Parts: sequence; structure tokens; C-alpha cells
Amino acid sequence: MQLKYEKMDRNAPCWCGSGRKYKHCHEAFDEKIRTFELKGALVPDRSLIKTEKDMEGIRKSAVINIAVLDEVADRIRVGMTTQEIDDIVYNTTVKMGGIPADLHYEGYPKSVCTSINDQVCHGIPSDDIVLQDGDIINVDCSTILNGYFSDSSRMFCIGDVSPENRKLVEVTKECVDIGLEHVKPWTFLGDMGHAVHQHALDNGYTVVKEIGGHGCGLEFHEDPYVSYVSRPGTEMLMVPGMCFTIEPMVNMGSDEIFQDEDDGWGIYTADGKPSAQWEIQVLVTETGHELITY
Ligand code: MF3
Ligand code: CO
Repeated sequence: MQLKYEKMDRNAPCWCGSGRKYKHCHEAFDEKIRTFELKGALVPDRSLIKTEKDMEGIRKSAVINIAVLDEVADRIRVGMTTQEIDDIVYNTTVKMGGIPADLHYEGYPKSVCTSINDQVCHGIPSDDIVLQDGDIINVDCSTILNGYFSDSSRMFCIGDVSPENRKLVEVTKECVDIGLEHVKPWTFLGDMGHAVHQHALDNGYTVVKEIGGHGCGLEFHEDPYVSYVSRPGTEMLMVPGMCFTIEPMVNMGSDEIFQDEDDGWGIYTADGKPSAQWEIQVLVTETGHELITY
């Protein structure tokens, strides 16, 4: 069996690029991962372990990512078009020296995703889409700064939202907060995903299975895929230096979804009932986690 963390020369420079000898750097870390790997656990490649320099770059990217959504939060209102949200995201990102990661990503035409009510995700902003009193909308923003990626999304309640829809928005936020509490090294992504799922189910909701979170930092979408319908003790082992998103899509009705055939992007609930999503980016640390975006 080929292990990802084979033993190496203890006096050689560490693989992480710190310049220190392996025995004074990642040797103990590798030993620990190897014990899990030998038990059959899915462990991250070394390419997924962020260095201090990577972490600094990702944090700086996140400063812009958070500021952009703060600006949207200040200005979003009834009567605004989703194109105006796109303009805010583009202009604020660029003014701060960043690049909207969504723009031209696999042909995506805009700088942000704006998904309203029964739209689950990947809603394309448009001059023709006007925010109505009572809408719930997810604004999903991703940022590149100096090649480092950050990603987050928030829900906004527009005007007078029904108690039912408001609760969906609030419980989905709770799902993310509960997921975050489960981010700690030497436990499994499935422990986290299961906790997220359980809170949604406890409130009578479902969680989308086909689309989840992802590693993020040196690329927009890295391994691992992060499911929120997973089982404890399964999926990838969380180890210090991994960075990924928690972004469950929670449906009021069934978990079935379909894709808009006309624009090729928009995802909707099959039953037309509302869906909500919040997204944060988190770094696994020695003792637990560091919140990167929110
Ligand atoms: N921001 C989304 C995510 O959380 C990805 C959007 S890709 C796009 O992963 F092309 F639709 F913008
Ligand atoms: Co994401």
C-alpha cells in the first residue's frame, strides 16, 4: 500500500518549505496522520496543508471578501435589482485590489451569485430581477487576492419576510454555527457534516446532497468535497492547515433540485419551496479552528 505520508530522511528539509529539518518540523505531524491512514482513513494530500505564508495570503483575501458582503448588507433593499448587487460586489472588490473569483469562472458571466427564494444557488444577477418585499436571498461572494481565494455567503431578508421563511434562514445559520463547532483536528469531516444535517432534520428541513462545500485557498475549489449529509467517522480526516468551506443548502421541502436549462447555472428546488444557504470558510488549527470568512 502506497501511503501519502511515507517516512522520509529526518535531517532533510521539511516538505512544507519552512526550511527547517524534517525532524524538527512536520515529522510528528506526519506520524500522526500515518496512524490514521494505516487504519484506512481518508487523509489529505500534503498539497492541502496550508503553510504560514498561504494562511497569511488567505486571511488578506478574506478581509476583502468580508468587506464586500458588509457593503452589500448596508445597501441591499426592496426594489434593488440583482445586477445592482453585482455592481457593488465588482466595484468594492476591485477598489480593494481584489478580483471577483466568480467572474468568468467556467464561463460564469457575473461577479457574484444571487439566489432568491426557491433558487438554491448559482443565481445569475440581472437587470430584470428586482428584489420584492418578503424575498429571502443568498448573496455568494468569492474573492481572489494575490492568487489566494476566499469564499462566503450570507442570507438577507428583504422587507417583511414571513415567520416561516425567516425561521428557515435562522436555522440554516445555526446549522453552519454547529458545523463550525465540530471543526477540530484529528476528527472527521463526516462528524461535522452529520451535525449540520441533524440540526436541519430536527427542524423538519432537508439538505441538498449533490452540492456541498470544498477546500479553498490556493484555488477556488480544492479537495476535499464537503458533504452535509455525511456520517460520523467518515469522509476526510481534518488536520491542522486544512482550509475549507461550510455551506449547506437547506430546503424547507424536499431535497430534490434541478438546473435551469436556459442559463445553465441556476439551481432550484423541485417542489418550488424555499431554500437557504450561509457559507463560511474555516482553517483547521492545532487546537480547533480559525474562522476565515463569515
Ligand atoms: N461561490 C460558490 C461556492 O461557494 C461557487 C460559485 S461558482 C460560480 O462555491 F461560477 F457560479 F460563480
Ligand atoms: Co463555496
